Amino acid sequence: MRTSNYTVDPSRLEGVALEPLFAAVGAEAAKQDIPAFAIGGYVRDRLIGRPCKDIDFVVEGDGIAFAREVSKRSGAGHVNVFKNFGTAMFMYGDMQVEFVGARKESYSRNSRKPEVEPGTIKDDQERRDFTMNALAISLNKGSMGALVDPFGGLLHLDQGLIRTPLDPDITFGDDPLRMLRAVRFATQLGFTIDPTTFEAIQRNAKRLEIISAERIHAELNKILLTPKPSVGFILLRDTGLLHEFFPEFVELSGAEEKHGMGHKDNFYHTLQVLDNVCEKSDDLWLRWGAVLHDIAKPKTKRFEPGHGWTFHGHEDRGARMVPGIFRRLKLPLDEQMKFVQKLVALHLRPIALTKEEVTDSAVRRLLFDAGDDIDALMILCRADITSKNEKKKDRYLRNYEVVIQKLKEVEEKDRVRNFQPPITGEDVMHAFAIPPCKLIGDIKTVIKEAILDGLIHNDRDEAWALMLETGRKLGSIPAPGMERPIPHKT
Ligand code: CTP
Repeated sequence: MRTSNYTVDPSRLEGVALEPLFAAVGAEAAKQDIPAFAIGGYVRDRLIGRPCKDIDFVVEGDGIAFAREVSKRSGAGHVNVFKNFGTAMFMYGDMQVEFVGARKESYSRNSRKPEVEPGTIKDDQERRDFTMNALAISLNKGSMGALVDPFGGLLHLDQGLIRTPLDPDITFGDDPLRMLRAVRFATQLGFTIDPTTFEAIQRNAKRLEIISAERIHAELNKILLTPKPSVGFILLRDTGLLHEFFPEFVELSGAEEKHGMGHKDNFYHTLQVLDNVCEKSDDLWLRWGAVLHDIAKPKTKRFEPGHGWTFHGHEDRGARMVPGIFRRLKLPLDEQMKFVQKLVALHLRPIALTKEEVTDSAVRRLLFDAGDDIDALMILCRADITSKNEKKKDRYLRNYEVVIQKLKEVEEKDRVRNFQPPITGEDVMHAFAIPPCKLIGDIKTVIKEAILDGLIHNDRDEAWALMLETGRKLGSIPAPGMERPIPHKT
């Protein structure tokens, strides 16, 4: 059964000879009398009509010297040389163009032994990750534009099949990250991982331990940025790869039953929420919020006799798990992490609002806590409605509309989304002629709570009056002339 999102069309290679960059490579190859090829992702993407922003060339010779000559011929700019890897690159328009000499050793970027032995194009092709990524286009006299395909890559591309050119144990041994790449390509392209390759991944999954967290999260993020990341996560779990770097997510799997009462499988529920979010937003970190929103459910799961399964406090516990997971995967620990943490912590709040009478004060508090992230939070919470009971789902969604409407009204009226206290600590010090002390914080809290509860408006005059009243109650006397608000400092 064909599952791929693309059709393969070899005629897409026609005209290569007429394109200026390829013509320059061809002319230089002829001059130096060495074979040169375009290879890898570019060839794959050109055949399936997928846009691509970089082109790799392989020559059977000195790739760096060759790149310098091609850059001159094609009028491209400065050539950057990476001696350790034996590669050179330059920009050609907005295309990143890279040259390397064909070699026998592995393509592993983290290889501890960077010496390279010169090789033929075939040597080079067989040390690549997948047959579809080992396809090359000849740029040589007599065969210009012809596909060089010793491992059946074109057929596999057409079948939507991901398969290693060599014994998969060797290919994955050279660079275990390739196992993750297999899942990523399967998710991006809608391809199937060939059974032999799949079994090798299951066998070799543990080898991922030698791969840096940065390389792992780069692949994971690419999976997350596809339209339907659930496909990738299921493959990650079924291959055993997920266990190696994200065991908390694997823990979500399974639905226990006791006394005839079950709970939903939180692995699939989370993936459904994730896919739902992806229909509404391309934001990587909002997608991470979906991934992690229920992450503490296994840790908070209890069976309460007579009542059923509960996950009390999973939102707070989950928010506290976020930094550890981000640190381990070396994901950014600043704003992005805090945003994800906030989404996890608040993800039950809007749904709680839909279940009861929606009061202004509950809405105000939600706006205050979510701030500018309220829209992202609402996308996540809507996506979290995965009930199979259509009636229930409809009711929740309708209540949601009420909450969204209320959020708009309250924000227009009270401006608490980006709450700036109408009374500052300095105001309190002036008003009571006191030095910095605990009283200041206490008064500010009373004012904030009163605004959120709707007892006073978010307004300087009303807040000033409450400040005086609260200070008096707590035993402080306002300084002379402080009965009216002093003008704001600018
Ligand atoms: N490659 C490999 N093993 C790796 C990484 C890359 O064999 N671990 C080879 C593949 O032939 C690949 C080429 O290097 O096609 C270029 O790699 P890269 O630019 O990382 O990937 P692409 O295949 O171009 O795909 P994408 O741009 O989507 O990452």
